[in-house]
Amino acid sequence: MRKPIMAGNWKMNLSVVEGLALAAELAEACQGVEGVDVVIAPTATSLYPIGQALKGTNIALAAQNCHPAPQGAFTGELAPPMLAEVGCRYVIIGHSERRQFFGETDEGVGEKARSLIDHGLIPIICLGETLEEREAGETMRVVKRQLKAGLARLSGEEVAEAVIAYEPVWAIGTGRTATPSQAQEVHAALRQEIAHLFDQAIADRARIQYGGSVKPSNVRELMSQPDIDGALVGGASLKADSFAQIVGF
Ligand code: PGA
Repeated sequence: MRKPIMAGNWKMNLSVVEGLALAAELAEACQGVEGVDVVIAPTATSLYPIGQALKGTNIALAAQNCHPAPQGAFTGELAPPMLAEVGCRYVIIGHSERRQFFGETDEGVGEKARSLIDHGLIPIICLGETLEEREAGETMRVVKRQLKAGLARLSGEEVAEAVIAYEPVWAIGTGRTATPSQAQEVHAALRQEIAHLFDQAIADRARIQYGGSVKPSNVRELMSQPDIDGALVGGASLKADSFAQIVGF
């Protein structure tokens, strides 16, 4: 059985003070929550203080991006060991906003995944089709290409421990969620592709989150689908009550 994983992607929102307040509220609300991995991904400036504040809680810390190199002349970037040092357990990579606005490539996502695992971090590998790609009937081709590149440098065992996040670009921040059956169809295809690239046992263990306008009112139905193992939540993760409701789906 795959353990559900609920992650809040705060994107470029909340000051350190606001983030600390939200983290404290969430820690309180999630006390005693069992059987679900709870993760929050604050901005880079909040990682250290929030990492400290989350010590002894059941909420894990994630970063929203990284550079693949362990250090070096990459102005403005953050290396995986630095993220590990401030308490991150996960790092989101390949988010569609990074692909769209910052030139992140399929190949680059694969490099980041490799580096994160080398430094003891768990990648949350995001992928998903745009509206044009969906309307052109290219969804499966696109997501399989992104998946294959993201996993290219990993062993089967590493894939089983990684997290994949399927986020149709047209559903992100739009209020337009994929229907549970639309999401399930892609999740099942992704799992089948992992079985094809590795084997069925690996595919059965890998967790695949859905993301895109997840909220308290739609999370349960999404989570009832056999291949949906969690949610990557943007907007609804910025309020303690809505994220706590999602965690408690
Ligand atoms: P949303 O964002 O929940 O606001 O649609 C999801 C994401 O981009 O991870």
